[in-house]
Amino acid sequence: MKKLNIGMVGYGFMGRTHSNAFSQVNHFFDLPFEPVLKTICARNLDRAEAFKAKWGYELVETDWRRLVESPEIDLIDIASPNDTHAGIAIAAAHAGKMVMCEKPLSRNAAESEAMVRAVRAAGVPNMVWYNYRRVPAVTLAKQWIDEGRLGKVFHYRAKFLQDWTISSDLPQGGEGLWRLDVSVAGSGVTGDLLAHCIDTAMWLNGGIDEVSAMTETFIKSRKHSLTGKVEPVGIDDASAFLARFHNGSLATFEATRYARGHKALYTLEINGEHASIIWDLHDLHRLQWFDHKDAGPTRGWRSIHITDSDHPYMKQWWVPGLQIGYEHTFIHQAADFLSAVGAGKSASPTFEEALLTDYVTDAVLSSAANRQWVKVQGGNHATHA
Ligand SMILES: NC(=O)c1ccc[n+]([C@@H]2O[C@H](COP(=O)([O-])OP(=O)(O)OC[C@H]3O[C@@H](n4cnc5c(N)ncnc54)[C@H](O)[C@@H]3O)[C@@H](O)[C@H]2O)c1
Repeated sequence: MKKLNIGMVGYGFMGRTHSNAFSQVNHFFDLPFEPVLKTICARNLDRAEAFKAKWGYELVETDWRRLVESPEIDLIDIASPNDTHAGIAIAAAHAGKMVMCEKPLSRNAAESEAMVRAVRAAGVPNMVWYNYRRVPAVTLAKQWIDEGRLGKVFHYRAKFLQDWTISSDLPQGGEGLWRLDVSVAGSGVTGDLLAHCIDTAMWLNGGIDEVSAMTETFIKSRKHSLTGKVEPVGIDDASAFLARFHNGSLATFEATRYARGHKALYTLEINGEHASIIWDLHDLHRLQWFDHKDAGPTRGWRSIHITDSDHPYMKQWWVPGLQIGYEHTFIHQAADFLSAVGAGKSASPTFEEALLTDYVTDAVLSSAANRQWVKVQGGNHATHA
């Protein structure tokens, strides 16, 4: 097994999920590479040192520019806020490093296009961490759709609901609150939450042709943590849109951080001519399945526990009936990436595929601003691998 030295940017929420994934992946998957937690990079040296000690990194770096130039690093993994993605990824590609990047690929499609050009020119393996594709139940849904079990798809419905920004006392910007600062995040729930829903949707149901959206910023100004001043809020607090998929199906998408009681409720439902599927992040190891071909007396919704060894990824884990969780989706994605690199490829979603999501989120924001239907760039040939 060849060693692959990881340079991780960011020790926050995603820095932890990725470090955990790289630490665990070889325990459960047979892979051509052994990722080595080589260098953790973040601006605060003391905290980076503490993270290094806790997670077993070998080195600390406080400037990502030095990290990407380091000859010791094979792969740059970007787990820092959205405004940093483009600069780091482009520099990493120029330096010939493999690049993994957190979602959304960047703040908007123009930035993401530059990232796609950079990895394409450098010919380096790349991937974006849209991890919900690697929930075994969601992967199984993809397999059933590809096998044609749903028949023609009529409807796609997705929601991602949270409630953590309702208080008007919550500041914007800075540590932990960069998602409320539009200059850092690029957008609000559209790029943060709907991007996940859109990535899964296009993976399962093909490209989106056009959208009609509405967004709202409920709290118009907040104190900025870095300047101390009350400043206008530029992000969308809530976003909902109608969409037409290229396959003719109709869709509704909704995301908000103002749904009191909901913490991270990502749900999706697909209705086809023969069957329907429902998946719910709060019950992530279950797939709800209705098949009209079932015999009449027993026809009804089934709740399938996705823990058997013939379910996607599950034979790598425990015994049938024992479920896995959120962190495993990142381990699966790391495993798929390392396998792909072994075969001289990138793993899906690549930067190029993730850019298609940015085209949709840009169209959503444009539609909401102009109160009009907007055609999605690349929509009618946007199918994901
Ligand atoms: N796949 C998912 O489900 C998922 C979930 C959460 C976040 N994300 C994405 O992951 C990224 C990070 O989000 P998070 O929740 O981990 O944020 P976070 O605030 O928890 O952590 C961000 C980290 O980046 C570091 N950082 C900021 N600027 C930096 C710079 N210039 N150089 C080096 N380090 C820098 C911070 O010190 C911190 O360690 C974002 O793009 C976000 O959209 C994805």
